[in-house]
Amino acid sequence: MHNILDEANAEILLPAKKIAARVRELATEISRDYRNQSPHLIGILKGAWVFMADLIRQLDLEATVDFLGIASYGTGTTSSGEVKITKDLDTSIEGRHVLVVEDILDTGRTFHYLQEVLLARQPLSLKLVTLLDKPSRRVVPVYADYVGFTIPNVFVVGYGLDYGQQYRQLTDVWSVRPSTS
Ligand code: PRP
Repeated sequence: MHNILDEANAEILLPAKKIAARVRELATEISRDYRNQSPHLIGILKGAWVFMADLIRQLDLEATVDFLGIASYGTGTTSSGEVKITKDLDTSIEGRHVLVVEDILDTGRTFHYLQEVLLARQPLSLKLVTLLDKPSRRVVPVYADYVGFTIPNVFVVGYGLDYGQQYRQLTDVWSVRPSTS
């Protein structure tokens, strides 16, 4: 596919092959940790769906899935920290081993909010797997149980992640310098 990014302002941070290899490793680790259990994977829309689709196909487990739609107020490259649910879960998570699937853990505000909302629904356990982690941006002390890649404070798109709702379909993760004009 022709690259739709302006390469003067963007470069590949994580090539598709490297992502695929890491997703396999994460799936092996998760399959081991949840052995003899049937985890319930909750993908956080929209960014997580590409990662979740690849991850679940590598799991050596019986797993079920659901999706939670989240909107954080704010535009461009930063979020204000205010979060609201735009699409709730379809089924109860009470008594389930829940594994939240995220594309990126940034300030931590979204997952901090999600933890409160989901723990109130009494799952048996609640863990987080995130493809990308930017610990240098954290403003709330939350941690992921499984991290694909720890990355520096660069703006990233591709493999589900967007900039202005574009670029989610790119197979690589790119770092971009958003234009200031
Ligand atoms: C991203 C990501 C997380 C959140 C993490 O979603 O999918 O949900 O930001 O940021 P935080 O740790 O600073 O709260 P985004 O708001 O970009 O929406 P999208 O998934 O629909 O692209």
